[in-house]
Amino acid sequence: MHGERRAYLEAIGIDLWVPRAAPAAQPAAQLPVEPAGKAVEAAGRWEALRAEVLKCTRCPLHLTRTQGVFGVGPKRSDWLVIGEAPGAEEDRRGEPFVGAAGQLLDAMLRAIGLDRATNVYIANVLKSRPPGNRDPKPEEVAACLPYLVRQIELLKPKIMLAVGRIAAQNLLATDVPLGRLRGRVHHFGELNTPLVVTYHPAYLLRTPADKRKAWEDLKFARNLYHQLVPGK
Ligand code: URA
Repeated sequence: MHGERRAYLEAIGIDLWVPRAAPAAQPAAQLPVEPAGKAVEAAGRWEALRAEVLKCTRCPLHLTRTQGVFGVGPKRSDWLVIGEAPGAEEDRRGEPFVGAAGQLLDAMLRAIGLDRATNVYIANVLKSRPPGNRDPKPEEVAACLPYLVRQIELLKPKIMLAVGRIAAQNLLATDVPLGRLRGRVHHFGELNTPLVVTYHPAYLLRTPADKRKAWEDLKFARNLYHQLVPGK
């Protein structure tokens, strides 16, 4: 079976009745060499930002969270995936997207050669869990978004993928429905970073019929990335 098709079927959770070959190895990204002093300085800025987030009391969510959830992935990833807010499992473990939706997100990302251990950074708009997984309030987003903006300044991703309505609408400062934000390139922030929108994996777990559209979005994002960074 064609590798891309197999990856898609695996991403959407359809078991294949064929022996599974090991997933096609992704060539290791060639990272530019950075002067040691600069790398140490960047590491310090990341650490300072993480410490700030973990002790943040900017909004009342700090009263009900177990811990702040900063982000995960290599600090020199070209890709940044942005979700909404930590859920119960993320709040417990301190890492974004580690519950059921996270497992689907990982499978979706793997289908386009991305892995949080290697080449994609994952963060949320909110760093603290809203109780009962309610939608973030505008004042919570206003308090927390500057942390994400600073993460983006440090990471300098080549491409961003917003998953779900809350992430997409808040990053793009719009109330246009998610369905109309898909399928085109937006831009975010001072660095004008290209941004693509797709469905939230939790939504896809509830609405599997839309997984096919999500796969179109992922291919769209992957093609855009290859245009932006030829040879990778
Ligand atoms: N949903 C999100 O948007 N982010 C997480 O980290 C987990 C679930």
